[in-house]
Amino acid sequence: MWALCFGALVIISFTYWVYRWRNPRCNGKLPPGSMGLPLLGETIQFFASNPSSDIPPFVKERMKRYGPIFRTNLVGRPVVVSTDPDLNYFIFQQEGQLFQSWYPDTFTEIFGRQNVGSLHGFMYKYLKNMVLNLFGPESLKKMLPEIQQAASSRLELWSRQDTVELKEATASMIFDLTAKKLISYDQENSSENLRDNFVAFMQGLISFPLEVPGTAYHKCLQGRRKAMKMLKNLLHERRANPRKHQSDFFDFVLEELKKEGSILTEEIALDLMFVLLFASFETTSLAITMAIKFLSDHPLVLKQLTEEHEAILKNRENADSGISWKEYKSMTFTFQFINETVRLANIVPVIFRKVLREIQFKGYTIPAGWAVMVCPPAVHLNHKKYEDPLAFNPWRWEGPEINGASKHFMAFGGGMRFCVGTDFTKVQMAVFLHCLVTKYRWQAIKGGNIVRTPGLQFPNGYHVKIMEKQTRFIST
Ligand code: HEM
Repeated sequence: MWALCFGALVIISFTYWVYRWRNPRCNGKLPPGSMGLPLLGETIQFFASNPSSDIPPFVKERMKRYGPIFRTNLVGRPVVVSTDPDLNYFIFQQEGQLFQSWYPDTFTEIFGRQNVGSLHGFMYKYLKNMVLNLFGPESLKKMLPEIQQAASSRLELWSRQDTVELKEATASMIFDLTAKKLISYDQENSSENLRDNFVAFMQGLISFPLEVPGTAYHKCLQGRRKAMKMLKNLLHERRANPRKHQSDFFDFVLEELKKEGSILTEEIALDLMFVLLFASFETTSLAITMAIKFLSDHPLVLKQLTEEHEAILKNRENADSGISWKEYKSMTFTFQFINETVRLANIVPVIFRKVLREIQFKGYTIPAGWAVMVCPPAVHLNHKKYEDPLAFNPWRWEGPEINGASKHFMAFGGGMRFCVGTDFTKVQMAVFLHCLVTKYRWQAIKGGNIVRTPGLQFPNGYHVKIMEKQTRFIST
């Protein structure tokens, strides 16, 4: 009898739990959607790969079924997905008030608990200023010759090779440049390869969070541990042998750590270093790879871009001087081209926030404690805003203002958390394109299929043959 009662109680409790899972408590009307299977939610569907440039099928199907705002459950957490430009705008504007930067526990595990994306308030502002000092316009002006030197020498090297795997090659170029700027790291003079650890890290970054040997996620965490160990050793080495003049970010961090009452800790500094290295080389190299693929596929775009850069060379007083800041700022079509590239590349496919207080929006209630997921691809591929959204058309950006974020363009995020590396990326892309189109031509050899998981990767590699131009258009 007791056993029967116990069994009935278990069944009732379980049924109630499943019911609650499917119908979470809410003081109003939740957005429509499904919470998926108990515990798993819709995580597996979310991680399905997408071999197209289009909105991920997970989001697209649900937009059709439920509309632009819907609910789901990912890795055990209730989430409201927003493809609605007004809600996205509201989310970015209310950072720190109604919403807070938040990423799933697995991300925090991967990027470090003290990474800049997970910090708030005073500490966050302090770190953001540090990064802006490093990658703000004044620093970038000084970095121009270094960036041009890096691009020119790599292109020259690649032109002597049969083919190059472009993503890998550009990642190496950007990583070397950034690692030099941040920690004076030089792969050639180092016994260990720091970037290899980041590669392992990247492969599992947006994967199912199962920490079992052999899984991509496990490899990712291992990559992080190794990279962090190397960074820590490098920092300790520098502390033991300080330099007379501050020349890189490590010197700056060590000075800060020495200050009495400094809020910076070694752990925070190392997490920041890790995030900056990762954020800079993975994103920018992907953008450059996509840019070259788009140029290969669109000869008219290549023609206009080449004309813009040839004109800069023609107008340069001293042919041997490098790109000036003024020239960089004058690259109107190049900026249109970069915007169009990052719109279609959708390098950051999701942006997460946590809801701090219950929100009422367009008739729906989003409970406090839930996560919201902004989905930039849905915004960038919205046919109501972008005519023929899957077409690559840099001319659509003709007009007065193309910098910064808007309700319809959030490749670099928006609001207070707008990407601090935007200008750094744009300078690197523009300078690289300048060196490429004025001096080289290239031929796509193989690969280049886009697969999102839901991160972006080229599984087969995009191989190109870089060739020096026979003739320079420049008139002397
Ligand atoms: C094509 C290149 C890039 C893209 C598409 C990109 C995209 C983004 C996006 C969408 C965000 C907002 C994330 C959020 O709101 O939660 C962000 C933030 C951030 N990005 Fe970038 N990024 C790029 C390059 C870079 C570079 C080169 C750096 C390094 C200097 C960088 C460093 C950061 C940092 C530190 C944040 C966090 C800012 C904060 O929380 O306030 N990014 N990026």
